[in-house]
Amino acid sequence: MNPIIPAIPPGIPGRVSKVWKMKLTSRSVSLVPIASTVAAATIAASLILTTNANAATTLGAAAEQSGRYFGTAVSANKLGDSTYVGILNREFNMVTAENEMKIDATEPNQNQFSYGNADRIVNQARNQGKRVRGHTLAWHSQQPGWMQSMSGTALRNAMLNHITKVATYYRGKIYAWDVVNEAFADGSSGGRRDSNLQRTGNDWIEAAFRAARAADPDAKLCYNDYNTDDWSHAKTQGVYRMVQDFKSRGVPIDCVGFQSHFNPQSPVPSNYQTTLQNFANLGVDVQITELDIEGSGSAQASNYDRVTRACLAVTRCAGITTWGIRDTDSWRSSGTPLLFDGGGNKKAAYTSVLNALNAGGPGPTTTTTTTTTTTTTTTTTTTTNGPGPGGCTASVSLNQWGEGFVATVKVTAGSSALRGWQVATTLSSGTVTNSWSANRSGNSGAITWSNVDYNGSVPAGQSTEFGFQGTGSGANLNPSCTAN
Ligand code: XIL
Repeated sequence: MNPIIPAIPPGIPGRVSKVWKMKLTSRSVSLVPIASTVAAATIAASLILTTNANAATTLGAAAEQSGRYFGTAVSANKLGDSTYVGILNREFNMVTAENEMKIDATEPNQNQFSYGNADRIVNQARNQGKRVRGHTLAWHSQQPGWMQSMSGTALRNAMLNHITKVATYYRGKIYAWDVVNEAFADGSSGGRRDSNLQRTGNDWIEAAFRAARAADPDAKLCYNDYNTDDWSHAKTQGVYRMVQDFKSRGVPIDCVGFQSHFNPQSPVPSNYQTTLQNFANLGVDVQITELDIEGSGSAQASNYDRVTRACLAVTRCAGITTWGIRDTDSWRSSGTPLLFDGGGNKKAAYTSVLNALNAGGPGPTTTTTTTTTTTTTTTTTTTTNGPGPGGCTASVSLNQWGEGFVATVKVTAGSSALRGWQVATTLSSGTVTNSWSANRSGNSGAITWSNVDYNGSVPAGQSTEFGFQGTGSGANLNPSCTAN
C-alpha cells in the first residue's frame, strides 16, 4: 500500500475518479512536501503512470475533464466528406458555423430568412451531442447587399430585426452567440471601427446585446474580436473598457471571444494569459473562438501548447475553438495553421494540445455571482447621495419594425437621488414578450414598471435604463416616472 496516495472515496462514479486522479497527478510534485527524495521520485513515477492510463484520447474529452469544451468551425459543404466528418465527430464537442450563420447567409433578402445550411450544421452537431456557438449576429463584414446600402434608423432597425429573428429561431439551441463581431479599430486609437453599423450611433453594440438577450435569454452573449490578445494593445484596452462599462451599467454581456488568429506577424503574445485573466476579472467568461496558428512542427506545437495552457490557467476560460479541422480546410490554408494535416492525420500541434488538456486545470465558473457583485458595488456607491424628493423623468427610445419592437426606457433622477422608481406606460396595440432590468405588472395596456434590486438607486441627475421587446406596435408609450 502506498501511504501517500489517498484512497478514492467509495461511491464516486468513474468519470469523477478519473478527474480526481488526474488533478492529484498534475499537482503532485509541487504540492506534496516530501522529506525523502527517493520517496518523491517513486511517487511521481507511479502517479504519472496513473495519468497516462486515464488520459483522454480526444480533444473534446480531454477538455471536458476540466469542464471546458474543444470546438471547431464547420462548413456545411464539407458534411459529405467522410474523413472530415469522422474527425469532427470523434474529436470536437462544440461547433461554430464558419460562414452559414452570418448575416448574408441567414437574411439574403430583407426579412426573408434562410437557414438551410446553418440548420445542416446545427442539426449535425446536436445529433452528435455537441453544442453550438452562434456566429455572428451583427458585423460590418459579410453583410447582404441590401444591408450594405442601408444607413441610419433603417439600418439600426434592420439590425435589431435580424438579431431578434435569428436568435429567436435558434432559441435554446445555441450555447453562446457572437452577438457583435469585430467592432473595434486596429491601430493605436482604441476606438470603434468605422462602419455602417457604427454610424447608426455608438449605442449600436449595447442595443444588439439587449435584443439578443430578449430573443434568447439562456444563450451566453459574447463580444468577439481579433488582435485583442495582447494586453498592451490599444484595441484590447478599448474592448476592455467597453466590457467594463457594459458590466457597470447592466448591459447584458456574458463573454468575450478572442479569435486568436496567430502568425509570424501577429504571434501569440507573452501576456496572452494576462489578457484572458483581466477580462475574466470583469465578470465575463472568456472563450478562444477562432484559433489558428500558422507554422509547422515543434514551433507550432509549442505555440498551441501555450495557448491551451493559458486557457486552462484562467478559471473562466470556458473553451477553445479552432477555425477549421484540417490545414486544407483553413481560410489561411497556405499557413498550415490547424491541428490535422490535409490527409486528416494528427500533427505535432494536435499532440501538444491534447497533452496540455490532459494536464488539466480548474473548471470554468458558470455562475453569474461576479456580475451581481459588480453591479451591487456600483449601486452601493450611489446610495451615498441619499434619497430625496427630486422626482424623476422617463423617456423612450423605440426600435419598431414590421411586426415587433424593442423599447429602451431611460429613467433619469431629478435634483436628488432615487432609492427606487416606477414607470407607467401605455401599450395600446402591442404585447410585451420579454423585458429586462425592471419588474412589470402585465403584458399589455397600462403597464407599471419598477426597478429591480440593482438599478433602484440612481444618483441625482443620472440615469438607468430598462427595456422590453414586444409584438405589434410600441408607439405612444407615454412613459411617466414616479420616484420612491
Ligand atoms: C472567415 C471564413 O473562414 C472564410 O471562409 C470567409 O471567406 C471569411 O470569413 N473573423 C471571423 C470569421 O470572425 O468569421 C472569419 O471567417 C475569419 C475572421
